[in-house]
Amino acid sequence: MFKIIRHEIDAMIARDPAARSRLEIILCYPAFHAIMGYRVTHWLWQRGFRIVARFVSQLLRWFTGIEIHPGATIGKRFFIDHGMGVVIGETAEIGDDVTLYQGVTLGGTAPSVESDGQRGLKRHPTLEDGVIVGSGAQILGPFTVRRNARIGGNAVVLAEVPEGATVVGIPAKIVRRETDDRFCAYGTPSGDLPDPVARALEDLTREVQGLRNRVVELEGEKAGGAARPEKPRIVAASE
Ligand SMILES: CC(C)(COP(=O)(O)OP(=O)(O)OC[C@H]1O[C@@H](n2cnc3c(N)ncnc32)[C@H](O)[C@@H]1OP(=O)(O)O)[C@@H](O)C(=O)NCCC(=O)NCCS
Repeated sequence: MFKIIRHEIDAMIARDPAARSRLEIILCYPAFHAIMGYRVTHWLWQRGFRIVARFVSQLLRWFTGIEIHPGATIGKRFFIDHGMGVVIGETAEIGDDVTLYQGVTLGGTAPSVESDGQRGLKRHPTLEDGVIVGSGAQILGPFTVRRNARIGGNAVVLAEVPEGATVVGIPAKIVRRETDDRFCAYGTPSGDLPDPVARALEDLTREVQGLRNRVVELEGEKAGGAARPEKPRIVAASE
């Protein structure tokens, strides 16, 4: 039990550049209080103590500014940075290592209360492992945000997001198709990630080298002997 809590705290420290110690997380992080509280309310919810679970959940919302419905399903090492204004609906499902920033809504779109037959139907999103959701983003509906996807601040997401994609805007559109699966604070890749421009230049250089080799081969064939192609090498931009 304490080991699990320690892992949860360490995951928060790892993901918040402002966090300095476990004690700071325990005393000053509403996310810690809300998530630990949710683990209790979810336990109550699953055992049929639904009104108690909802009541405790409302108290937690009052103290932390974070509203997590006890029926939601949340994986390990979940982190909500700052937290105020986060709303997570009843049928939301969240994988491991997911990060939300303040003001995020995992909301429903399908009607649910007009008839009892629709009560409890899936109407909130599923966030797979490693997803990062920027502040103020609204993810609305019973679709899936795939592994390691990133949602821009204030985006309104209304449809499935592919694995590793970054989406921004209203309604959200893809601006990047692949991201590194390592966590980066605020969803923005850090400087040590591969530079896409440098990568494109390397590909281009390799292609030019291949063409050079082909020309040497053809010249060799024309001259009657097979010339040995040069070994591929990365050339400097100034060469
Ligand atoms: C979406 C996000 C993850 C993208 O980061 P990135 O991969 O570094 O992407 P870039 O900054 O290169 O932006 C890519 C494009 O999306 C646009 N963009 C980025 N974030 C945007 C946003 N939130 N809303 C609208 N457009 C956005 C950029 O202007 C850029 O457009 P361009 O190609 O036309 O110039 C990041 O911008 C973001 O919003 N992170 C959340 C940060 C947050 O919530 N911080 C709160 C901490 S308290």
